[in-house]
Amino acid sequence: MVPAKPLFPPIWDGFKGNHRCSWAVLSLVLTFMAVSWLQINTKAVFPLSFSSSTAQEESGFATESQDPNSCIGFFRPTSKRTKVVSITEFGGIGDGKTSNTDAFKKALNFCRGFGEKGGSRLNIPAGQWLTGSFNLTSNFTLYLERDAVILGSQDVKEWPVIAPLPSYGRGRERLGGRHISLIHGDALTDVVITGENGTIDGQGKMWWEMWWNRSLEQTRGHLLEIMNSKNILISNLTFLNSPFWTIHPVYCSDVVIKGLTILAPLNAPNTDGIDPDSSTNVCIEDCYIESGDDLVAVKSGWDQYGITTARPSSNIIVRRVSGTTPTCSGIGIGSEMSGGISNITVDGFHVYNASSGIRLKTDIGRGGYIANISLSNITMDNVKVPIRFSRGANDHPDEGWDPKALPIVKGIVIRNVVGVNIKKGPVLEGIENAPFQDICMFNVKLEGIEEAHRKWDCNLVTGGSFGVFPSPCPSLQGNGTCTGETHELPSV
Ligand SMILES: *[C@@H]1O[C@H](CO)[C@@H](O)[C@H](O)[C@H]1NC(C)=O
Ligand SMILES: *[C@@H]1O[C@H](CO)[C@@H](O)[C@H](O)[C@H]1NC(C)=O
Ligand SMILES: *[C@@H]1O[C@H](CO)[C@@H](O)[C@H](O)[C@H]1NC(C)=O
Ligand SMILES: *[C@@H]1O[C@H](CO)[C@@H](O)[C@H](O)[C@H]1NC(C)=O
Ligand SMILES: *[C@@H]1O[C@H](CO)[C@@H](O)[C@H](O)[C@H]1NC(C)=O
Ligand SMILES: *[C@@H]1O[C@H](CO)[C@@H](O)[C@H](O)[C@H]1NC(C)=O
Ligand SMILES: *[C@@H]1O[C@H](CO)[C@@H](O)[C@H](O)[C@H]1NC(C)=O
Ligand SMILES: *[C@@H]1O[C@H](CO)[C@@H](O)[C@H](O)[C@H]1NC(C)=O
Ligand SMILES: *[C@@H]1O[C@H](CO)[C@@H](O)[C@H](O)[C@H]1NC(C)=O
Ligand SMILES: *[C@@H]1O[C@H](CO)[C@@H](O)[C@H](O)[C@H]1NC(C)=O
Repeated sequence: MVPAKPLFPPIWDGFKGNHRCSWAVLSLVLTFMAVSWLQINTKAVFPLSFSSSTAQEESGFATESQDPNSCIGFFRPTSKRTKVVSITEFGGIGDGKTSNTDAFKKALNFCRGFGEKGGSRLNIPAGQWLTGSFNLTSNFTLYLERDAVILGSQDVKEWPVIAPLPSYGRGRERLGGRHISLIHGDALTDVVITGENGTIDGQGKMWWEMWWNRSLEQTRGHLLEIMNSKNILISNLTFLNSPFWTIHPVYCSDVVIKGLTILAPLNAPNTDGIDPDSSTNVCIEDCYIESGDDLVAVKSGWDQYGITTARPSSNIIVRRVSGTTPTCSGIGIGSEMSGGISNITVDGFHVYNASSGIRLKTDIGRGGYIANISLSNITMDNVKVPIRFSRGANDHPDEGWDPKALPIVKGIVIRNVVGVNIKKGPVLEGIENAPFQDICMFNVKLEGIEEAHRKWDCNLVTGGSFGVFPSPCPSLQGNGTCTGETHELPSV
């Protein structure tokens, strides 16, 4: 297969240009950003319009890789979906009460037969389709028509326990296996999950209660997990009430996640929006997310298991994403990052009513690296700690973690940030014997912080800054390690 066109922009270009940028130009840019941001109302869902290529329309998707403002070209369909069926043909009943577990199983078995014969598409018409977990297949489109709602079963047994991920060594919350996701894919190519803004509702309340009342025996399942797969498109849908992290591509490449609304109650535990994990060439665009945990979190495995699995996350683009999470962060990197995380571009992110805007999380024992990360055009409103880098809270899979496995964090460029109603200056805490290096900040304006809380809280971080308010901590003042014509970031 032709490799996806690298869309990763050079992240350290423009530093020289920024030097020439006068304060007058700078304040104009900031004013423009503030004004355009104010025009995004808090519930903004970005427009889902872009041109489509007719040849693929019948498959329920369209791609257009020419659009420079889109990384949809990371997904390239290989089959036309010659067979189109409806869940009703397999005995499905969309009354919200009847179990469709068998209907989905039969439908998917049928569709599996068309993998080598032009592929297939399963339509889900308007209605409420209650089901247990089911497995997707290759060369396949799951298409939710307008007002189609897939409801997650309330029977724990319909979310069977599967093996833990090798890069975690155990379930994330409990030892041993983990509950399978409601919609699951393993070792697939060319899969589309899309529709006319149909809904996939995990009805996760039962799982959150088991977490709260400590009766949970195995790690909760995701709403959608795709493993060991490539060429995946997830678009134009609403995901509600995931038991755990909502969308989890792990060990995948060439993944496009576009035009989604992801909602969970703001107190629902660990309901992260989108967590690309040990995956490459991932594009996340035009999504609105409200949840009880990070909106987007990039990960790559946990301590010794992540180190030995050695599957990095790289070449990930996140843009035009917005949302709220009162106790967690807008964009998170880590804390599981032991396989390494690099070449991540976040461009255009609005986070409001949040605990943190940008958050890097790592720990002693993680090993791995976080390198070449670019975050730009970020707006924040009512955020407690706008930028937070932290060492962890002793969160390890088991006693086998290596205290000598220190993570490397270097080359984090944060550019064009406007924050209003910010409560506190950034908190940047590196790790003893593994200071965070080349932390570069340009044009960062954080407003609303009371004078007493403006001071940055930095420890074991070095880098530089330009055009940053309030004034950064001494180790980031001036050009620091961010100087130079080309500003080459050291490789790791
Ligand atoms: C999303 O829906 C819009 C409107 O129907 C359509 O034009 C577009 O091609 C869809 N995009 C994707 C990526 O499915
Ligand atoms: C998917 O379709 C392509 C093109 O027809 C074919 O080459 C490939 O073998 C199919 N993959 C699977 C897993 O069926
Ligand atoms: C889906 O696949 C998993 C293994 O990945 C298996 O344990 C499970 O039973 C399958 N589910 C169905 C409904 O076939
Ligand atoms: C899709 O549905 C969700 C939930 O009802 C809604 O918030 C969102 O605005 C809809 N998206 C589009 C593009 O219509
Ligand atoms: C915990 O919550 C679950 C899900 O609501 C419920 O079935 C179970 O009875 C509760 N257990 C206890 C000990 O409260
Ligand atoms: C990250 O990007 C740089 C510059 O394009 C490239 O040299 C490097 O190989 C990339 N790293 C990965 C892991 O893709
Ligand atoms: C955001 O926080 C403000 C101030 O606390 C509150 O008035 C507003 O309702 C919140 N918005 C949402 C969507 O939670
Ligand atoms: C940020 O926004 C500006 C103005 O809209 C745009 O020109 C630029 O390409 C965006 N991205 C980066 C990486 O600066
Ligand atoms: C940063 O370095 C450049 C030379 O690379 C120099 O012209 C400029 O004055 C420096 N800026 C500050 C704030 O030190
Ligand atoms: C970071 O970028 C540099 C410069 O392009 C590249 O040499 C290096 O391989 C990248 N590091 C990683 C871990 O991708």
